[in-house]
Amino acid sequence: MADDVIEALEKKENQEPSESEWKETGNGPILSIGNLRVWFELKKWGFAHAGYVRAVDDVSFDLEAGGALAIVGESGSGKTSLMKTILGLYEPHEGKIVFEDRDISRFNKKELDWYRSKVGFIQQDPYGALPPFMTVKTILEEPMKINDVKDPKEREERVLKVMEEVRLSPPQEYLEKFPHMLSGGQQQRVVIGRAMIMEPDLIVADEPVSMLDASVRVEILKLLESLQKSHNLAVIYITHDLSTVRYFSDRIFVMYAGELVEKAEVEQILHNALHPYTKALLKGTSEPDARNADIIKEIPPGEPPSLVNPPSGCRFHPRCPKKIDGLCEIKVPPEFEPAESGHLTACWLYDNDVDKT
Ligand SMILES: Nc1ncnc2c1ncn2[C@@H]1O[C@H](COP(=O)(O)OP(=O)(O)OP(=O)(O)O)[C@@H](O)[C@H]1O
Ligand SMILES: [Mg+2]
Repeated sequence: MADDVIEALEKKENQEPSESEWKETGNGPILSIGNLRVWFELKKWGFAHAGYVRAVDDVSFDLEAGGALAIVGESGSGKTSLMKTILGLYEPHEGKIVFEDRDISRFNKKELDWYRSKVGFIQQDPYGALPPFMTVKTILEEPMKINDVKDPKEREERVLKVMEEVRLSPPQEYLEKFPHMLSGGQQQRVVIGRAMIMEPDLIVADEPVSMLDASVRVEILKLLESLQKSHNLAVIYITHDLSTVRYFSDRIFVMYAGELVEKAEVEQILHNALHPYTKALLKGTSEPDARNADIIKEIPPGEPPSLVNPPSGCRFHPRCPKKIDGLCEIKVPPEFEPAESGHLTACWLYDNDVDKT
């Protein structure tokens, strides 16, 4: 082979692949989380180290392109901390986040802008998420300006298209409005439109309907479901309410005190929950329907534990009706796979070698 051809091939091999090549060559998951810990340092008198809030502790999972995952857990279990770390807003204490085969901790400013355009974020409080002095049009144009979409005509076309997609229609009615002029449901549609405008591959939705009226919750969930299908989007949907996951999730991960205690397909969780905490969560579930808005839900009895000094062994043991004395409060349970393949739970009840009498 001619030297110049060999040299060209070697040069190509050593080059960083372009964005499109990354997508084509990567056979792995779109997102891979490995042994992630997100700890917040506590300071006494503003400076002395006083321990850590272990908001996320040793969390690992993969998400395939186009896959939908729900993370369910009580208030304070670490769901938002996990999401904000995935979005690159918090630095992990330990562990790895790999997006389309690239370790996000190595991203420079430009790559981080690109990453944030590929991962759309929908948060709980739509009004808080929208800049109050910007019109819908400017809000939707902003991500394109950050990501160098310079042609105003192209920006306008994309704004109109996304507004139709999130059903803010006809767009002319909303373009010049400020967030306070919109209802909660319309505000959340703007937030979803902003998340979609750069054609992301992954959407992270953190309690997207919990602050909305019960009457619009189902509509917004159905909108997210249809966007996921039409754009083959991967979705991570965070909620404390298991009843909403069946709208568009393939798998459910149950989070308790910073850890994932059960991972399974939706049907497996709904019909064959294994972990005592998941069973307690299911008891407190109702349909996200306006007619159920006044039903007071049962929650698992007891308080979620401190994340500064979490319980030893299994973190759920102080609240667990099935606790095995002499084991659960001492040893951290590994993941067991007792029923169907891919249905994992970190609970000693499923260790065949343990005497449960
Ligand atoms: N920036 C921060 N600094 C210090 N501690 C934090 C910070 N963010 C979250 N925490 C703590 O981490 C723990 C997990 O909080 P997080 O907001 O992740 O929970 P969550 O599951 O999203 O709860 P909710 O359902 O109420 O939104 C809590 O104890 C919280 O006080
Ligand atoms: Mg939260």
